[in-house]
Amino acid sequence: MTGGFNSPPSMLLTYTPPKFMIGGLPVHGELILSPMDGYSDQPFRSLCRELGSAVSYSEFINALDVLHGHPRLEERLAYLPEERPVIYQIFDSDPARLVEAVLKLSRRAPDAIDLNLGCSDRSVAGRGAGAGMMRDPELAGRAIGMLRRALDIPVTAKMRLGWDDQQRNYLAVARRLEENGVNLIAVHGRTKAQGYSGAADWDAIAEIKQAVGVPVIANGDVRSVSDIERVLAHTGCDGVMIGRAAIGNPWIFSRLDRDRVSKERVRATMLLHLERSLAFYGERRGLVLFRKHASHYLLPLKFPPEQRRALLTAETPGDFLKILDLLD
Ligand SMILES: Cc1cc2nc3c(=O)[nH]c(=O)nc-3n(C[C@H](O)[C@H](O)[C@H](O)COP(=O)(O)O)c2cc1C
Repeated sequence: MTGGFNSPPSMLLTYTPPKFMIGGLPVHGELILSPMDGYSDQPFRSLCRELGSAVSYSEFINALDVLHGHPRLEERLAYLPEERPVIYQIFDSDPARLVEAVLKLSRRAPDAIDLNLGCSDRSVAGRGAGAGMMRDPELAGRAIGMLRRALDIPVTAKMRLGWDDQQRNYLAVARRLEENGVNLIAVHGRTKAQGYSGAADWDAIAEIKQAVGVPVIANGDVRSVSDIERVLAHTGCDGVMIGRAAIGNPWIFSRLDRDRVSKERVRATMLLHLERSLAFYGERRGLVLFRKHASHYLLPLKFPPEQRRALLTAETPGDFLKILDLLD
């Protein structure tokens, strides 16, 4: 007999509760690939997602490109259905322009929109977008409020700790975001002035977690499985975002340190990543864009420098594969 009281539907047997919610959106995992311009594209995101990253954040998207068009915009917006939940990350200094852009983006059916409050690049922060918006907590809050009202999907934010050591206004910003309805906050534990160096301040991330009721994701200086456990314990956060340490090491999302991954597995994953890159960008660009990932995959492997150089300058996928086959 099937389907009776003694044989519950298989859904019940496989149901696992979400780790946390982004508004009404369940997230089934606490590790997330960071949005990274030039890296977290569809080929790499989908790979990380399969290995355990719980959410796909797009690379940052300039609202002006959405409104006026950009030759590479389509590549940034493309995602695979199996990547869901998919979050488009957007930046601009003007809340009205952000709203106009995300309304256009909503036709692409993302699961949520993330406001970038962290980009430290002069061309972005210098015009009051990205980390530049953190200098004005009221404006950041207003942008979140307007996005929330304009959209019927959750709105998240990714912030830093402030502009520099004199303006570590992270609590004021986090509170304004929450008051205006933000559904999740990811925190890179550095100021804009620090860029990507110096220690990430996990104490400050813990303070933010204490100060707000929405889920908080910790980010910065997470390089190993033990770092994952340490940052979760230290901050009490709901999840961890991993950026640079995932490049060349997507297995971190399966809680595997790189030294536990066999050479065969590295080679197989590189092949898969290369295939996806070629399929997504076409042969020429696909190979060129894959090279920067390849150099990270190869970093811990020992083989002659001339072979490494040959691999990283291979002109065709066929040449690349031939040289890769020589690695033992
Ligand atoms: C090459 C690169 C590109 C990045 N692009 C973005 C981006 O598009 N959006 C964003 O919010 N953060 C971006 N970041 C910041 C990362 O998401 C992350 O906050 C930062 O690298 C700290 O995390 P990590 O120590 O794990 O790398 C970028 C970082 C790097 C290294």
